[in-house]
Amino acid sequence: MDYSTLTNQELIELLKRRDSQTPLGLVWERNEIEHDRALNDDFVAMSVRQELSEGAAPWANLLIEGDNFDALRYLRMTFKGKVKVICIDPPYNTGNKDFIYNDKYVAKDDRFKHSTWLEFMYRRLLLAKELLRNDGVIFVNIGEDEFGHLSMLMDKVFPGMKIGTFVWKRRSGSNDAKGAFLSVDHEYVLCYANTDFSFCGQTKACLDYANPDNDQRGPWVSGDLTKAHTRHQRPEAFYPIQNPETGLWYPCDPGRVWSFASEKKVKPGQKLRSRTMEQLIEERRILWPPNERTACYTSLVELRSAIEDGSAPHNLKVDIPDLEFWVGKKMGYGKPRYKKFCSELKSKEKPLSTWIMPAASKKDELRELESESAQFIVSGYTAEGTALLQKIMNNKDFSYPKPLSLIKALLEQSTSNAGGDIIVDFFGGSATTGHAVMELNAEDEGDRRFIIVSSTESTSAEPDRNVCRDIARTRLSNVIKGYSYRQGGKVFKVDSIAGDFAYLTISKMPSESVGLRISHEQVWLALQLIATNRLFPYDQNLLWQIAEFDDQAVIYLPETSTKAVEEIAKTVVRFSSVVIYSWEPGIIRRHLDHPGVTVTKIPEYLVQSFGV
Ligand SMILES: C[S@@+](CC[C@H](N)C(=O)[O-])C[C@H]1O[C@@H](n2cnc3c(N)ncnc32)[C@H](O)[C@@H]1O
Repeated sequence: MDYSTLTNQELIELLKRRDSQTPLGLVWERNEIEHDRALNDDFVAMSVRQELSEGAAPWANLLIEGDNFDALRYLRMTFKGKVKVICIDPPYNTGNKDFIYNDKYVAKDDRFKHSTWLEFMYRRLLLAKELLRNDGVIFVNIGEDEFGHLSMLMDKVFPGMKIGTFVWKRRSGSNDAKGAFLSVDHEYVLCYANTDFSFCGQTKACLDYANPDNDQRGPWVSGDLTKAHTRHQRPEAFYPIQNPETGLWYPCDPGRVWSFASEKKVKPGQKLRSRTMEQLIEERRILWPPNERTACYTSLVELRSAIEDGSAPHNLKVDIPDLEFWVGKKMGYGKPRYKKFCSELKSKEKPLSTWIMPAASKKDELRELESESAQFIVSGYTAEGTALLQKIMNNKDFSYPKPLSLIKALLEQSTSNAGGDIIVDFFGGSATTGHAVMELNAEDEGDRRFIIVSSTESTSAEPDRNVCRDIARTRLSNVIKGYSYRQGGKVFKVDSIAGDFAYLTISKMPSESVGLRISHEQVWLALQLIATNRLFPYDQNLLWQIAEFDDQAVIYLPETSTKAVEEIAKTVVRFSSVVIYSWEPGIIRRHLDHPGVTVTKIPEYLVQSFGV
């Protein structure tokens, strides 16, 4: 803006307006007009490359080659509100020329280094947000360099949706990279979710529970009957208890009172959240110490001297109130406990901990943590990802893939094996996420599906580089077909696992001429993804294309002909609902006037779905 043309009053008004609007949060240089243009100036179409795809059609999974900004614009048209998990590992902006943006690189010390990266991420995250289901979640991997900025950016794009940050250990060794004698060994996974999302946690396995006395109420464990409060803090929970069968009395520990209230101590109108001690005794849930050593003191003097010489039951102290109560009472020395039944666990699930354990942790340490109340996920170091990719590819052409175990663990916790959950990774790199999805499906017979976007990473210096084709595709293909690798002079074979993918490439065309430039194949691909989420290739030998699912069908009629319309008329009667996409819907409607048949015009339909 040319401020020199503004009057004093206009400048004051402008300043006032700006001051009142200053938002809390992140500020970076951005050009909104350029952003709008980038979003809407052209239309993205995709084509299937059958020779690079894997498995038989219809394909459930997609591997998309190209810039993820374009891919996301396309996915917004075809998968809006349908994605369960977005799991991305963007360039960490370490200053090592690690991200491609409008084909320009930003220098390490460039003042705009953060702004350029933030704008790059902002545009992509805004689009990604639209893909998420109501119970969808996005995981974003990030290192220390951009952790702070990214958190604020995520808050801006996903306001109120933050659910936490995972921390994991990325390596076993150490190095003082920052010159401050600090080894930065961790990375983060930021986690934002829509309202209906929840992690699976873990069912508390009642493994420690047993039923040695055949209790009708099922397996139980022995629980602590006391809690960490003193008699001064909780005087109402400090009282004696008696075993009704043996008549033995047990004094309360003044430093750790009973965890259950006594009916005798409940104040009028007081509501209790748990059972009373009397109920527990009545329900035979107290585990009284067996074969007890006992004591009984006939006078206060005798009792005091036993307390002082340490021979009395330990919970008795000379300064407790009502000491004379214990004179003449037959007492036990042991600690009563109580039966905790597995069937009564308040929550059968352990929540997920944000602390990710390294796979290299000692087994004992893990076992100890497992018995805690949270579920820990376990991940290998970055080296795990590198070693695995090298085995699958037999080369080191891609640096720093994520450890498969990390991605698998996150997906296992955020998806289910039924219902066709869709998982998107638009910074796919070597397609670790696709690999993780297939492995999880193989383990729990799941039907999860993946959409991976991977760039070529080609530059003017390396115009033929194609990470998507040569790394991501080869990796996924090898995993699907099975592969072998050499280690220590031996050959190891890894079995094939079920999976497929369609390999898609991107082309762009001016929005106003979509109708002239888009190919029938590209139309058919987009229509199928919008309507069915699965992909049949385009068959040039047919007059019209059909994708069937359940008792519904989607039909595409590239050119109107009497023969095609007659054939379609015979076919539609088999389905309860059919959508027919045509360039001349008027003519088709006249000939296909069946209930359940809708005829829609191309290309307005696509352009409308594509736009904001
Ligand atoms: C940190 S790596 C992801 C590695 C991946 N998680 C794995 O396990 O292989 C980031 C990837 O994002 C890719 N990338 C960067 N800019 C991109 C863009 N505009 N569109 C698509 N991919 C992009 C880079 O090529 C790189 O492969």
